Amino acid sequence: MQTIKVKASKEYDVIIGQGVLSLLGKKIKELFGDVKVCIVSDDTVASLYSEKAKKYLGEENIKNELFVFPHGEKSKSPEVLFELLEFLASKHFSRKDVVIALGGGVTGDLTGLGAAMYMRGMHLVQIPTTLLAMVDSSVGGKTAVNLKSGKNLAGVFNQPELVLCDLQMLLTLSSEIFSEGVAEIIKYGVIADRALFELVKNGELVENIENVVARCVSIKSEIVSEDEFDTGKRNLLNFGHTLAHSIEKMSEFKISHGNAVAMGMLLISEIAWKRCLSKERCQDEIIDALLENNLPVSCPFTNSSLYYATENDKKSSSGRISIIVPEEIGNCKILNIALAEFKELLEL
Ligand SMILES: NC(=O)c1ccc[n+]([C@@H]2O[C@H](COP(=O)([O-])OP(=O)(O)OC[C@H]3O[C@@H](n4cnc5c(N)ncnc54)[C@H](O)[C@@H]3O)[C@@H](O)[C@H]2O)c1
Repeated sequence: MQTIKVKASKEYDVIIGQGVLSLLGKKIKELFGDVKVCIVSDDTVASLYSEKAKKYLGEENIKNELFVFPHGEKSKSPEVLFELLEFLASKHFSRKDVVIALGGGVTGDLTGLGAAMYMRGMHLVQIPTTLLAMVDSSVGGKTAVNLKSGKNLAGVFNQPELVLCDLQMLLTLSSEIFSEGVAEIIKYGVIADRALFELVKNGELVENIENVVARCVSIKSEIVSEDEFDTGKRNLLNFGHTLAHSIEKMSEFKISHGNAVAMGMLLISEIAWKRCLSKERCQDEIIDALLENNLPVSCPFTNSSLYYATENDKKSSSGRISIIVPEEIGNCKILNIALAEFKELLEL
């Protein structure tokens, strides 16, 4: 078991290990005292893990309720968010109570926003159940729902007060969903750690899972403690994501976040090399890492359609856009460029 401390506007522990869900009741008592808990989960995760979570809360006599919504990105919506808020109100939750996001990134983002909004803020605990949520979305405090105009357009920063990553939960993931988390791990390797990248490229992830999750969380924790509100260095975490968000949106969310990130990382690395923005030809190694982990290495959309979708994305403000390009594996730089220049980079 490993514990990583995140030092943002709130300080909190991320506890990583096999079976750490069993700490749930004890930790809630320690951190919040005598409170009521609302577990929020999608239908798939609820059927697998909500009884277990309730059991650990019950052992400490913590009263709890369960809010369940349909799985999938479509539920990261204002409609489901308001259903959650109405549920909390109907069950008479107060500001001192706790909301637990038990699930993947969709559950974490939706619940995090709900916890910030209900009575102007309840306590939030994240229990990520996908690899992607463990290494990325459960840590750092970004929460959001999607609007018709685009992804993550309605959200706030809301740090959790505890994150429990129980690695045993990864055993029930399909290999496709597991791989989507690997895309984010490859991202951490490219932006900050060549050794981590090599390990994943060489297919040695599973036997090193605890150390890999801990390494990703500490990279994220270092970046978030320097730039919690995403005004500078935190942008590095968007490597591959600017194009990924457009890919997801254009596919009407049929292409998952992880697969879109894989495509986005590869596209931007190819562009960076062609335009002499990289010191090293990174795309070949990235292709090897993606193929080793059953991730896609081609994108179904043209550069021109991606450009127009990106133009509408929230990251493009006042005619400029931040893109993250790899200088070499383990080191990326942030370029803030005019949209016209971005268009040129895409050879339009
Ligand atoms: N807030 C952030 O910083 C941040 C960072 C990265 C991604 N995200 C967001 O995260 C979302 C993607 O996250 P995701 O891939 O975890 O999606 P998800 O939450 O939809 O989970 C994927 C699928 O896996 C199922 N599942 C979850 N845990 C399981 C388990 N242990 N066993 C079996 N099935 C399980 C879910 O029911 C779902 O169908 C996107 O909306 C993305 O925008 C947020």
